Amino acid sequence: MQSTFCNLLLSWYKKNARELPWRKENPSPYEVLLSETMLQQTRVEAVKEYYHKFLLAYPTLEALSKAKEDDLFHLWQGLGYYRRAENLLKTAKILQNCKDFPVSKEELLKLPGIGEYTSSAIRAIAFHEKDIAIDGNFYRIYSRLNASSLPFLKAKKVMKDYFMEKLGDVDPSTFNQACMDLGELVCLPNGKPLCENCPLSSFCFAHQKGEETSYPQKEEGKEKRTEHLYVYLLQKDGKYYLRKRDKKGLLSSLYEFPNFTSPLTLSNVTYLGKSHHTFTHLYWEMDWYAGETLKELPSYSLYSKEEILNVLAIPSAFRFGINKIKKEK
Ligand code: ADE
Repeated sequence: MQSTFCNLLLSWYKKNARELPWRKENPSPYEVLLSETMLQQTRVEAVKEYYHKFLLAYPTLEALSKAKEDDLFHLWQGLGYYRRAENLLKTAKILQNCKDFPVSKEELLKLPGIGEYTSSAIRAIAFHEKDIAIDGNFYRIYSRLNASSLPFLKAKKVMKDYFMEKLGDVDPSTFNQACMDLGELVCLPNGKPLCENCPLSSFCFAHQKGEETSYPQKEEGKEKRTEHLYVYLLQKDGKYYLRKRDKKGLLSSLYEFPNFTSPLTLSNVTYLGKSHHTFTHLYWEMDWYAGETLKELPSYSLYSKEEILNVLAIPSAFRFGINKIKKEK
């Protein structure tokens, strides 16, 4: 029998479910892997366009397994966290040699980039297996319903047990997506949740106490390190110097303009302005310069405007430079 909790949640979802490109009757495990990978750390609105583009370029796992990493990174440009794309490609290559897409938690967790969240999402949404894909949505809902002060990592196990119990015999795909929508449409982060629209408000301890904005409790963030960079749009014969970053570490295997922690001693450079970029643990403050040089720049190569705009995968941290180049005749 469905609990009152589930009845209320599911009838709300029936009326309010969002139409999303990856939401359909029977999505393939590949489609769920792709959408859930993209949706980590990225807003639903931003993902929509990329999801379409990606499936057009790589409609199947097999097609993806044959992708060139540079092409994939170019397609991913702007989404950030490129490690996700790298892992998707690795996973596609591994699964190419398997008969079926794995269903078990154990097998899924062996695949690159597939952790607790993504494995549960694939199991629940593609295979209708009893599982809960605990993310920030479930965490907000759980913390408010129970007026719980547990930090995310400590709450993971209790949340899983709590929602598994609520799930009962309901279709896990519907249940998970209903909670995701409730978290993104009603039980909102940052600011006031829309409790007057919430089907679960009568169960909600935080709401009863009028303290819904106090949960989940803010965790002390680690202080970000600031790095100051001098970045150069250096031209030679109408082309620009760029290079591919290291295979390991921050923004690995992506292209970058020459950048240094102290300014270069170049004559004839023009100051273009400032930009900044926030990473998880790091903040880049960038001063941009443009100039021409006759010298070779060791380890850098020259690329045309067309290649910069349409071929190379250049991370958003360097968007200021790309926009300047776009405007040039
Ligand atoms: N957020 C993360 N995964 C989602 C999904 N499958 N549908 C809607 N929102 C989500």
